[in-house]
Amino acid sequence: MEDPYTAQHLLVEAEALRRDVEDAKLGSEAAAEAFRIRFLGQRSGSVTTLFKRIPELPPSARRQAGITLNSLRKRVQERLLAARSSLEARRTSPEQRIDLTLPGRRQREAGSVHPLTHVLRSITGIFERLGFSIEDGPEIEDDWHNFTALNFPPDHPARDMQDTLFLEASGDVMLRTHTSPVQIRSMLTGKPPFRIIAPGRVYRNETITYKSYCLFHQVEGLVVDEDITMADLKHALYMFAGAFFGSDVRLRFRPSYFPFTEPSAELDVWWDLSGGGRWMEILGSGMVHPNVLESVGIDPERYSGYAFGMGVERLAMLQYGIEDIRILYENDIRFLSQF
Ligand code: DAH
Repeated sequence: MEDPYTAQHLLVEAEALRRDVEDAKLGSEAAAEAFRIRFLGQRSGSVTTLFKRIPELPPSARRQAGITLNSLRKRVQERLLAARSSLEARRTSPEQRIDLTLPGRRQREAGSVHPLTHVLRSITGIFERLGFSIEDGPEIEDDWHNFTALNFPPDHPARDMQDTLFLEASGDVMLRTHTSPVQIRSMLTGKPPFRIIAPGRVYRNETITYKSYCLFHQVEGLVVDEDITMADLKHALYMFAGAFFGSDVRLRFRPSYFPFTEPSAELDVWWDLSGGGRWMEILGSGMVHPNVLESVGIDPERYSGYAFGMGVERLAMLQYGIEDIRILYENDIRFLSQF
């Protein structure tokens, strides 16, 4: 009968293999592959074969044998990996290797700030310097915030001034038609005094032409405190217009109507054109209507306020001499790269 296979046998064989592993020359892809098959080949690789003999060992010796063989197998794999990566490096000739010092082939296009963003930032910057803080509100509004609380009674014809994009047949959910609902939201969440502006997008169901679009931007303003008068309103707006257009700007205050202000006025700036010029409306404004203060629980006997809302596209078109509003939304590089 054959002698039983012992741990001693296995360790001696493993040690001999280890020497062979270290001595092997792996100078080519073929040599590396032969090496792999010789030691780790599935059927008769010599390390594989030793693994298969572990069950013949007495149980107490199997663990140590497993550890020895695992480390041998790992060593084979390390040599293979090292050999293959140096072969790979040699195969790639210097010209083909990636040269990280080469400049890119294409000059990156530098982005720039959209003209509307630019104008929005300069408007908010001016008001921040005048002590206003910036508020935000949702673009999806309900009827109460967008109209009712702003003193548009249900079915009042003033609602027709703002052709609304409704999101539900009930008519209660809509894209906000102006930034004025942010007045309501701010007054509901805070206490007077208020001194805020609210820039943002608004939406109307307009026929799209060179001068109207289905979305545009407004900056809303609201000041509520004790003893606020129309003189404060005019002062703030004149300060703003002087800072935005330059101190030589010509301005005109014109009576108007808005449900949420009384009295109401629009502000026009003189737009110089070759061979004349004309007045351009840039904002609506007025003294906050007592009904609006009441709808948010502020006592109109004690507090008064002014509000205004300006069209950002108008100001951008004036500032840059843009004649067609649609170009602000077309993302045409030939236009945008001029800013
Ligand atoms: N919300 C008005 C509109 O979109 C603009 C406006 C007018 C806002 C007068 C105001 C205001 O705050 O006082 O047509």
